[in-house]
Amino acid sequence: MRIAILPTPLAAARTLADVIAEAIRRQPALVLGLPTGKTPIALYSALVERHQASRLDFRRVTAFNIDEFVGLPAEHPGSFAAYMARHLYRHVNFSPRRSHLPAGDARNPQQEAARYEAAIDRAGGIDLMVLGIGRNGHIGFNEPASSLVSDTHVARLTPETRRSNADAFDGDWRKVPRTGITMGVGTLLRARHVILIATGASKARIVSRALEGPIATNVPASLLQAHPNLTVFLDRAAAGRLSR
Ligand code: GLP
Repeated sequence: MRIAILPTPLAAARTLADVIAEAIRRQPALVLGLPTGKTPIALYSALVERHQASRLDFRRVTAFNIDEFVGLPAEHPGSFAAYMARHLYRHVNFSPRRSHLPAGDARNPQQEAARYEAAIDRAGGIDLMVLGIGRNGHIGFNEPASSLVSDTHVARLTPETRRSNADAFDGDWRKVPRTGITMGVGTLLRARHVILIATGASKARIVSRALEGPIATNVPASLLQAHPNLTVFLDRAAAGRLSR
């Protein structure tokens, strides 16, 4: 595991954007895994800047988002599809054919999860998986539990996760869907390179548990320790509780 500690959240986002830009230049048909949440917003604006300033070309890149809420059409402002359009896809030259999210409004979410997993396989698997971490240690919508699911599946969200996503639902966490479709921990760990980004003091405790604590299903992000090619981008605040 490599850990890069940058002075500020902005510096962490920009450094990670440079790593992604370099990977795309080396491999224009890169397959990316992409997260949502507050943390990657700065990353996406840094990628948009690189597209505008140095013609970073996304035309041949394929992207699979990690998760989506069940029950929301892509047009719903709280959907991760709307988030991705707002923060990235509207501003760069991604091919709509190659930018994927699970269909939140699919009639059969279980079937949609299986279809999504198969689509990732068909694309040749994920080259570079960019991940955030929930304050409870979740990755995607893989919540702390006594057992975890390997493949893309329908997951029940904890009240904590629903609360931290309430902003796009009039601030009312009860309006946040109760379930999501998410890549499983196997889907995430099968990526050839995994990059975790976490910023801010509110993540310091969970970052130290995930990276330095025991590998345990009640901290899903701790499973990343088992990945042979893991890079972690932190700002100083999020790194504040690491012992080394
Ligand atoms: C959300 C997403 C995760 C994300 C996490 C952290 O619920 N499903 O993929 O990594 O929460 O979000 P934030 O960056 O807002 O702390």
